[in-house]
Amino acid sequence: MKILIIFIIFIISYISGFEIPKGFGIGLVIPDAECLNYIGDPIDQQLCNSKLQNNGDRIYTTTNSQIDSQTNIKKSFEAITFLQDQCKDLLFAQFGICDIYLAPCIEVTLTPLKSISLPQRFCKSVCDRMVSNCPRLEEQMDCSNSFLFPEIGTFYDLSPYGYTIDNGTFAVPCSDPTIFFNQVSSNSSFIEICPSPLLLKNSSDPEYAANKGYSYLSPSNCVLPCPVPNYSNQKWDQLLTMSKILSTISFILSLYNVLTFGIINKKVSDPHKCTCFFSGSIALVNLCDIITYGIGYEELLCPEPGRSAKQQLDPVCGLTGAFFHLGITYCVLWSMTMGLVLYCSVKRQKWFKFNYFLIGNTTFTITTVVIAAATSKFEAGLGSIECWIRDRWYAISLFWIPCGIALLIGSFCIIAVIHEVYKTSKKSISNRNDLLQRELKPLLIVIFISGSFLYLFIFFFDIERKFGGYRSAVEDYVLCLLNGSQEECFTTGPSYVPYFLFYLVIRWFGIIFFLFYGTSNIARKIWVQNKIWKSISSSISPKSTPKSSPKNSDSKINSNSTNNNNMILNDNNDKNLNEKKAVELESIKIN
Ligand SMILES: *[C@@H]1O[C@H](CO)[C@@H](O)[C@H](O)[C@H]1NC(C)=O
Ligand SMILES: *[C@@H]1O[C@H](CO)[C@@H](O)[C@H](O)[C@H]1NC(C)=O
Ligand SMILES: *[C@@H]1O[C@H](CO)[C@@H](O)[C@H](O)[C@H]1NC(C)=O
Ligand SMILES: *[C@@H]1O[C@H](CO)[C@@H](O)[C@H](O)[C@H]1NC(C)=O
Ligand SMILES: *[C@@H]1O[C@H](CO)[C@@H](O)[C@H](O)[C@H]1NC(C)=O
Repeated sequence: MKILIIFIIFIISYISGFEIPKGFGIGLVIPDAECLNYIGDPIDQQLCNSKLQNNGDRIYTTTNSQIDSQTNIKKSFEAITFLQDQCKDLLFAQFGICDIYLAPCIEVTLTPLKSISLPQRFCKSVCDRMVSNCPRLEEQMDCSNSFLFPEIGTFYDLSPYGYTIDNGTFAVPCSDPTIFFNQVSSNSSFIEICPSPLLLKNSSDPEYAANKGYSYLSPSNCVLPCPVPNYSNQKWDQLLTMSKILSTISFILSLYNVLTFGIINKKVSDPHKCTCFFSGSIALVNLCDIITYGIGYEELLCPEPGRSAKQQLDPVCGLTGAFFHLGITYCVLWSMTMGLVLYCSVKRQKWFKFNYFLIGNTTFTITTVVIAAATSKFEAGLGSIECWIRDRWYAISLFWIPCGIALLIGSFCIIAVIHEVYKTSKKSISNRNDLLQRELKPLLIVIFISGSFLYLFIFFFDIERKFGGYRSAVEDYVLCLLNGSQEECFTTGPSYVPYFLFYLVIRWFGIIFFLFYGTSNIARKIWVQNKIWKSISSSISPKSTPKSSPKNSDSKINSNSTNNNNMILNDNNDKNLNEKKAVELESIKIN
């Protein structure tokens, strides 16, 4: 387009036999252009109001051109907002940009009734000054274009409009806002504009300090919106829906486990206690999620536009964060303890008293919660769905390293237990199929619990490893926003599927535990032996089936046990009782 215009101008000047003097550009005349007052900045956005010469009295205007200019000025201001660390004299650049897009206007009177309006183009020397102060501006302005940036002025051919002086040409001097700038610059300030959806805050204002939860994109005062646009809304909705459903189910099932093994259970053995504490801590983790979605994810995690929740300012975030941490740490420790207890009992040695575990786990967990709470480390962070410790080193030292150690010990114990059970059963049972059946359930539990924690562990450290990459990718995000194309821009973080899985895994423990323990025959026995349940079921139907069937299996077990009295699994040799739970219970009895 530009080339075409220049070509037309060339043709025109050639035909009229006019030779352009050095330092001048040549301009096209648009007959219906006018010199009008600046329409003024939009109400919600400061632009050029105090930055135009003569108060913006005479601005070269064609149809809608001022509105279009404002759009372009806004884009340019957005771009230089992110150039603050690379450029000198950006205030002057803003004056220049206003002057370029809202060019001063000169009216030439042709006849008393007819005049023509011509723009004053921006002087090349000023353009050069802007570009030398800020080389990145070169991408947007080409100072060697004499049509837009003449050295001295622009010639307009007015002969078609009846102008006769100087062979019908009219010279308009170029516009140089330098003097005006020097006069008013002390009263004027640099305008930062953040491309949507970024929000403009003031990082030097204590009210909007970064440590209050604002994520500034240096060197600007723009903050990331909250929630951070890591994924499309549809993906966020998916994640939140999953979280709501799983947490609720998991919470209920965990409570059921606690009720079964801890409350109505008459003989609470050590493994039962482990199951209870594990399920209890899972329930606590899920409860935090339920509270979070009860309040509303955005309300809790993003209390103000652009600000993610922090413990100091948002006590609810601190509280749910603390409980979440309490729950998940306890959960990890008890899964380790379960392994140890199991191993001890299979080895038929009581190395530790259960209460030591109780004291140790509780002390450790509470200590880490207190440390994190005292240093105000519970916060929502970027792109997460719950409050927790987000500070890298605190998270690693208070949770992930202990988690790694616990994972290691727990896995070791469980593998040792399987080995032990395998050895024992090899002695007494020759049937291989039976053995496989026996090993299957404990093996699945091992895979699920250890595997789950291993996944969380690997995911976390993988993110930490890539963290620098995510930070620098924010630049691409800004570039995408500045490009202003129609496509949606997303910040870079972990890919969606592993991220989704991370939150899924944290929420599925309650369900897994229910499937393995809550539905086991031991759990059924506990319920059947419960007095209240007995009275309820007998009052509903005197000959209830759940009452009679376990009795049958009991007698079966007893008859079997005489055959295999040498075994750890002595009375659980029934076809579907070969589960880890059984191993625990019976070995404890032996002790
Ligand atoms: C007007 O044009 C004629 C012929 O093209 C030229 O000789 C003359 O110098 C021009 N006058 C001015 C003032 O440029
Ligand atoms: C700057 O602003 C103050 C107060 O608004 C005004 O009194 C002063 O004249 C202004 N100075 C210039 C150079 O415009
Ligand atoms: C930002 O806050 C500081 C401190 O309150 C204040 O001096 C400065 O004028 C503010 N900047 C803007 C652009 O509002
Ligand atoms: C900006 O958008 C154009 C097309 O709209 C594309 O070709 C270009 O690569 C984009 N630039 C950046 C930095 O995203
Ligand atoms: C979301 O984006 C921010 C900024 O790029 C990044 O720091 C964070 O890790 C991302 N989080 C997720 C979960 O994608």
